Amino acid sequence: MTIVSDRRAETATPIIDLLADRWSPRSYDPAGEVSDEQLDALLEAARWAPSGSNNQPRRFVVARRGTEDFDRIVARLSSGNRTWAQHAAVLVVAVAELRDADGKVFPSAVYDTGQSIAHLSVQAHVLDLHTHQMGGIDGAGIAEDFGIPARFAVQTVTAIGTLAPEAVAVDPAFRDRDAAPRSRKPLSELVNPADWS
Ligand SMILES: Cc1cc2nc3c(=O)[nH]c(=O)nc-3n(C[C@H](O)[C@H](O)[C@H](O)COP(=O)(O)O)c2cc1C
Repeated sequence: MTIVSDRRAETATPIIDLLADRWSPRSYDPAGEVSDEQLDALLEAARWAPSGSNNQPRRFVVARRGTEDFDRIVARLSSGNRTWAQHAAVLVVAVAELRDADGKVFPSAVYDTGQSIAHLSVQAHVLDLHTHQMGGIDGAGIAEDFGIPARFAVQTVTAIGTLAPEAVAVDPAFRDRDAAPRSRKPLSELVNPADWS
């Protein structure tokens, strides 16, 4: 499915539409819904992401708007994130399993967990949904609220939903930030850097 949005990345070389068009909005529709089928597909995409030795050292706490769990997660977001993320339809907490129950370390747990959310976000875009990952969270507080043991580390919360339509009044600050140009460092800075300082 080809989705073209006006937030499309200005890539130096053409890349697939899906990746160029994915972006992280803040203007979520407070009445927007994610169906059970869509949510299943998002989590399935996360589940099928690769991981070191196929250890799959990641877990997810999933909560829909209007539930107690959702409100508990919202309360653990930074105040700046809380203002817009409370309108998302679903919040997904990504949790890395640093060690198994016997103490065996999963060295790529954090990397593997991030990769699963990358897959989730791409699947969301195919389904006409948007995602916005957040590191501005109280991870220890979320772990406490949901009884997550210390061998796990809460990484991010991802907001998932649909864009607020024009008719829905959203904070102008979100609109401005959502309209700001998207930018990336040039590849010349990222690939085979001559200077690692
Ligand atoms: C691990 C991670 C943590 C992030 N934390 C936040 C956050 O706390 N608040 C926020 O508004 N955006 C957050 N973002 C979103 C980034 O700022 C955003 O992806 C980046 O600016 C690029 O924008 P784009 O996704 O629209 O291309 C986070 C993204 C990632 C991957």
